[in-house]
Amino acid sequence: MIAIRGGRPLSGRVEISGAKNAVLPAIVASLLTEEPLVLRRVPDLLDVRTQVALVEALGKRVERHGDVLVIRGEARVPVAPREIVSRMRASFLCLGPLIARLGEAHVPLPGGCVIGARPVDLHLMGLARLGAEIRVDEGVVHAAGALHGGEVWLRYPSVGATEQLLLVGATLPEGVEIVNPAREPEVMDLVRLLSAMGAEAEVLEDRIAIRGGELRGAEHEVIPDRIEAGTYLLAGAISGGEVELVRVCPEHLTALLAKLEESGVEVEVRGDRVRASPAGRWRGIEVETAPYPGFPTDLQPQLTSFLSLARGRSVIWERVFESRFGHVGELIRMGARITLQGQAILVEGVGELRGTEVVATDIRAGAALVIAGIAARGETRVRGVEHLLRGYENMEEKLARLGARVWVEGTSAI
Ligand code: UD1
Repeated sequence: MIAIRGGRPLSGRVEISGAKNAVLPAIVASLLTEEPLVLRRVPDLLDVRTQVALVEALGKRVERHGDVLVIRGEARVPVAPREIVSRMRASFLCLGPLIARLGEAHVPLPGGCVIGARPVDLHLMGLARLGAEIRVDEGVVHAAGALHGGEVWLRYPSVGATEQLLLVGATLPEGVEIVNPAREPEVMDLVRLLSAMGAEAEVLEDRIAIRGGELRGAEHEVIPDRIEAGTYLLAGAISGGEVELVRVCPEHLTALLAKLEESGVEVEVRGDRVRASPAGRWRGIEVETAPYPGFPTDLQPQLTSFLSLARGRSVIWERVFESRFGHVGELIRMGARITLQGQAILVEGVGELRGTEVVATDIRAGAALVIAGIAARGETRVRGVEHLLRGYENMEEKLARLGARVWVEGTSAI
């Protein structure tokens, strides 16, 4: 349980960690080479440990030195343990690399945050197009075959499916062309890593082409976490204070910064720093989540908290996941005036939120509740801290350094 005594404006600097969603595919990329892969700026998060446990179970050896991971050895085992894959969806990315390296793979259908149906049909369709024979039996995907190159069209630009196909394409001399790929910065970071490992990639307007073969080791520093960055910016703004992010890529935050400005928050970008502070009470706005460069679904819950204290009405359309609303009921318990209408979150701004005990249902819902707690009167106690552990490095410490009154009860750290 994390507890926050709200009502104090945050101020100061916060250093942003490496991006969780860039590190997770990068760890899986290690399956494609026998040479050492060195990853820098790796956050110490539960999800990262889970992905490390996965590649270790598949035959790799992993050492951590500070924020550097060194991954060695050879992928030898084609079977992904169910208790690992059920914890986190990104572990499903090992499917393609295992088929490519070992000719077969047995990977349970993934778990992860409960924010929608989250099928893997695009992953399976793509791999089948490239020659994999796939059978799903009692919740386990069994795949085998010699993969060949080809073109794969994605009906939706899925981040995970694009990464799955990039990983496989990097091993194929004829290559893979992904039409309608995801273009999230984390996807582009994987393209950069695979290129450093020896693949040749070309990013065009409507497609990404990648080809390769035997890959080599590489050293790679992952990009800053734009979702963590956005979370702290919103935490500072909702508190009425001024927070400066250090070591970020401002261009990855364009959609959020535009929306903050539209609502009346002053934003300043300088080099790899971003500062934001509201000039008085902010206004309600309309926002729609979308694939990058649209507004990220992973910041929708945190933005909902922020807008629940805006002047006037906001409409937030959740277009990526059909049921990413776990935070809404909890925010209502804190005094927010929100109604759900299909995929739309209708927010009528209120003057104040009240602290109470709430439950985090997933990583970003948890972050949204912490943000609400920072602004709320009295004490907010957020249960389900394990979700925050999955996605935010040293959150308690980072918030405390910005002046938040925050502490953890019942677990040693978050
Ligand atoms: C990744 C991110 C997650 C983020 C999401 C969208 C990681 C580890 N996680 O998740 O934080 O919220 O991108 O930006 O990087 N879909 C299908 N079939 C598929 C795959 C996806 O229908 O085979 C649908 C999903 O149900 C969802 C949408 O596509 O509605 C987006 O999912 P996707 O982009 O694949 O997200 P993830 O890779 O799971």
